[in-house]
Amino acid sequence: MACTDSDYAYLREVVLKQSANLIDPSRNSLFDAKLTPIAHKAGATNLQDFVRLLQTERRTHLHRAVAEAMTINETSFFRDVKTFNLLRETILPELVERRRASRRLRIWSAASSTGQEAYSIAMLLLEHLPETAYWDIKIIGTDISRRVVEYAQQGRYRRLEVNRGLPARMLLKYMTRDEEEWEISSRLRAMCEFQQLNLCAPLPSLPEFDLVLLRNVLLYFSQEDRSHVFAAMHRLTAADGYLLLGNAEQAEDSTNLFEAEFAAESFFYRPLRDSVQRKSDY
Ligand SMILES: C[S@@+](CC[C@H](N)C(=O)[O-])C[C@H]1O[C@@H](n2cnc3c(N)ncnc32)[C@H](O)[C@@H]1O
Repeated sequence: MACTDSDYAYLREVVLKQSANLIDPSRNSLFDAKLTPIAHKAGATNLQDFVRLLQTERRTHLHRAVAEAMTINETSFFRDVKTFNLLRETILPELVERRRASRRLRIWSAASSTGQEAYSIAMLLLEHLPETAYWDIKIIGTDISRRVVEYAQQGRYRRLEVNRGLPARMLLKYMTRDEEEWEISSRLRAMCEFQQLNLCAPLPSLPEFDLVLLRNVLLYFSQEDRSHVFAAMHRLTAADGYLLLGNAEQAEDSTNLFEAEFAAESFFYRPLRDSVQRKSDY
């Protein structure tokens, strides 16, 4: 039996509550495509039965599975050439200059999906700022979806994934082939770690970051949630640190927290304030 409008409205509510993601009613068919396998696995005969199950049994893990299945995990190595040019030409060299005394960098790939963003930053550092090979560097990737976090932790990518954005020379230098897959080198692995985290829920203990990448996720949030996320980013970004958004995104409702700058054909953001560097042993 097909779902009614109120069934879809209920599913949208579940997603909003679990992940703060807004799903437009014009995309109802996505629920059928993405949730039918989960419905069958849970013992429901169709999506409408599954909605009843969610409403009556209130099994939290199923609610979470619904939100997770509805996330859009689109990503690739070195996604958005201009952003990676900005990182290579301006942001990373400036950060390395400023942190030469402590030889320590903390970078956050917030909404990291399957990990390509974090591993791309690690490659950029080793490739263009080789002195950082001996620094204390942590690139922390977080995402609400457990499935993509586990994928990133495994660090094994299919041919289709490495063919998107990763220059052949970098592929051969930083990954090894294992039959049909390519595995991230231990050197890159040691720089990156991944954990599950909901950006719209109270955040766990995190270090202060020199660079935060919050790319291509804000578009799924309401304005209110976006403001909360920006406030958290502001708290967690070093006073002389950087925030990067996706190409089509702006911090338009948080101009009191971040100021926009432009370099290498891209915008980036700096926190507005004098903050005292927080000590962290993360
Ligand atoms: C389109 S991907 C972007 C990946 C990467 N940042 C990039 O630009 O290539 C968006 C990611 O945001 C994650 N996401 C959605 N809502 C989230 C939330 N509330 N907290 C953390 N991650 C979330 C999704 O699971 C998805 O993997």
